[in-house]
Amino acid sequence: MSRYFTEENSAETVISRLESCPDPRFRQVMESAVRHLHAFVKEVEPSIEEWRQAIDFLTATGQMCDDRRQEWILLSDTLGVSMLLETINHRARDGRTEATVLGPFHVAGVGVEEMGFDICRDGKGEPCVVSGRVADAGGRPIEGAVLDVWQTNGDGRYDVQQPDEQPENNMRGKFVTGADGRYWFRTTKPVSYPVPTDGPVGRMLDATGRHARRPAHIHFIVTAEGFEPVVTHIFVRGDPWIDSDAVFGVKESLIVPFELEEDAGRAREAGVHAPFWTAEFDFALVETSTG
Ligand code: BEZ
Ligand code: FE
Repeated sequence: MSRYFTEENSAETVISRLESCPDPRFRQVMESAVRHLHAFVKEVEPSIEEWRQAIDFLTATGQMCDDRRQEWILLSDTLGVSMLLETINHRARDGRTEATVLGPFHVAGVGVEEMGFDICRDGKGEPCVVSGRVADAGGRPIEGAVLDVWQTNGDGRYDVQQPDEQPENNMRGKFVTGADGRYWFRTTKPVSYPVPTDGPVGRMLDATGRHARRPAHIHFIVTAEGFEPVVTHIFVRGDPWIDSDAVFGVKESLIVPFELEEDAGRAREAGVHAPFWTAEFDFALVETSTG
C-alpha cells in the first residue's frame, strides 16, 4: 500500500491512524464510520458543489435545533434509522409488546390521573374510550404498572406545538393499574398528522417526493417495577397512512380496531356522549433481565 493517500487506499489510510485509540468500542465505531463514508463517496462520486450542498443541509439541520426542536432526531426518524435502532435494541422477546419510536413530543413529569380520566382538555375531536390490561408474559396482571399516554388533539397538533392555543398537558396523562392490571381512560379518536416540515427535513421529504404524514396513533410508555419498560404506540386500523408512516413506526401487532359505539347506556357508563369510539389493547411486559 502506498505511504500516501490514494483513491484506492483512502479508507485504510484513515483507519490506520486510529491504531492508538484507547477505547476499543469507539475505535470500532470510527473505523466503521470511515469505511462506510468512503464507500458512499466512491459509489456516489459527488461533485464539489453537491458536497457543499450536503454540508449546507447538515449545517441547517443543526441550526434548526434548540431545546424544543430536535431536527437531527427527525432526520434519523425519517431515514428509518430510529426505528432500526429501536428494533435492534428491543428485539421482540417472549411475547412482549413491540416497541416503536418515542418521537419528540413526550413530556416528562405529567401527573397521575384517576382511572377513566378524560385527557382531552380542549373539547376538540371525537370522544373515545381506550382500555385494556397490563400483564406479564404469562398473562398474570401487573399491579402498579404506570401508563404514560400522549397524543395530538383533534386538530392533529401536540400541546407543546401550540403552547398558546392548547391547555397545558392537553391530551396527556398517567394511569396506574390496580390488582387486576386493567386500565381505561377517555380521550379522542387519534387523527393522522404531519411531522414538522418547516425545516431541512421537510425540504428533504419534499425533494424526494415523500409525504410527511404519520398514521393516527396514541403514544404509551408502560413501566412497572421489575419489568422492562415498553415505549410504543397503538395505531388506528384502516388509517389511510398506515402503510406509509413517514417515520416507519408501524408494526402489525400495534394496529388496533377502533369501533364506533352507538349505545346510549354504554356511553353513560363511560361518561361520554354517544356515539363514541372504543379501542382495546393489552400490554405484555417482560421481567428485567438479571445478569
Ligand atoms: C410522533 O409520533 O410524535 C413523532 C415521531 C417521530 C417524528 C415526529 C413525530
Ligand atoms: Fe405522535
